[in-house]
Amino acid sequence: MVSNDPFETVRWVWKNGELIRFEDASVHVLTHALHYGSGWFEGIRCYETQRGPAVFRLQDHMKRLVASCKIFRAELPFSVDELCQAAIETIDANEYKECYVRPIVFRGFGSLGVNPLNNPIETFVAVWPWGKYLGEEALEQGVDACVSTWRRLAPSGFPAAAKATGTYLNSQLIKMEAIIGGYAEGIALDEAGHLSEGSGENLFLVSEGVLLTPPRVSSILPGITRSTILTLAKDLGIPVRRGRLPRAMLYTCEEAFFTGTAAEVTPIRSVDRIPVGDGKPGPITRRLMTAYLDMVHGRRPDPHHWLTYCPPAAVARSESESVEVRS
Ligand SMILES: Cc1ncc(COP(=O)(O)O)c(C=O)c1O
Repeated sequence: MVSNDPFETVRWVWKNGELIRFEDASVHVLTHALHYGSGWFEGIRCYETQRGPAVFRLQDHMKRLVASCKIFRAELPFSVDELCQAAIETIDANEYKECYVRPIVFRGFGSLGVNPLNNPIETFVAVWPWGKYLGEEALEQGVDACVSTWRRLAPSGFPAAAKATGTYLNSQLIKMEAIIGGYAEGIALDEAGHLSEGSGENLFLVSEGVLLTPPRVSSILPGITRSTILTLAKDLGIPVRRGRLPRAMLYTCEEAFFTGTAAEVTPIRSVDRIPVGDGKPGPITRRLMTAYLDMVHGRRPDPHHWLTYCPPAAVARSESESVEVRS
C-alpha cells in the first residue's frame, strides 16, 4: 500500500555541517525561534529531469536565505556555496529523484529573553517528497481564491523581503480564513489597500494582454518563481508591468495566477466567487505555465543556468534501487 506520509522515506537531515538521522533531527523546547519566530528559511524544489535530479535556482534561494539572516543580524556560519552543497548532499543521501528542499536557520537554545543576540545559530536542511501544493487539479482547472480581511504587514513594521518564520503567522491567518470560507487560497492587500500576494505565493494578473504583478513595496516576498515568470514572459514577448494594483482589478482582469516554488504556476479561476475572465485558465497563463514546467524539468534551454544537476552518483543509485522506507 502506498503511504500518505511524505516523511516516511526521509532518512537523513543536514545539521550544522553534517548529516544526521531523520529521527535525531529535533530541537529543545526552549529554542528561541519556537518562542519568538526567530527563524529564516527557504522552500526549493528538486525536479526529475532526463539528466537526473536537478534543483531549480538553488543559488538564488540560498542567496535569499543569507539576505533574510542579514536583515535580522543573524550571523550565519555558512556561505551560499556551502548551503548549496548541503542541499545537494542531503538530496543525494536520501536518494530522491524529485523532492522539496527546506533549509532553515534559527536562533537556538540559550537565553530566553527577547534579545536574540547571544543565542546560537542552528542550520538545518531537510528534504521530502511534496506533490502539488494547492491540489492535483489546481494546475489544470485553477483555484477559487478570496480577498483576505487580513492585510500584509506594513514595510515600516516588518521587512517582507525576509523569509522569516514569524511572518508566517500572518500567512496562517490568511490561509485559515480562506480554507474555512471554502476557498483554496487568500489574497492579501498591503497596508495601503493595494494587491499584495497570497499566503504563500506571489500574484499575477493579465489585463488587456499585459502581465501585471505587484511591486516589492506592496509587502511581497520577492519570489524566485515571480522573477522566473517575469524573465520567461520577456522571452515569450509578453508585455510586463510591475506596479501597484487596485483590488478591483481582480474582478475585471482577463486572467490571474499564483506563483511560488510550492504552488508553481497555479491559475486562479475565481475571486470572491466572481469568475476571473471566463472562469478557465487563460492563454497567457497556460503559455507561462508550460514554459515554467518545461524549464524546471530541463525540457527547454537553460541560458540562465537555473538548474543545478545532482551528482551522477545519486542518479545512478536512484535508478538502480528504489528508496527504502524507514521502519
Ligand atoms: C508569502 C510568500 N510569497 C511568495 C512566495 C513565492 O516565493 P518563491 O517563488 O520564491 O517560492 C512564497 C513562497 O515561499 C511565500 O511564502
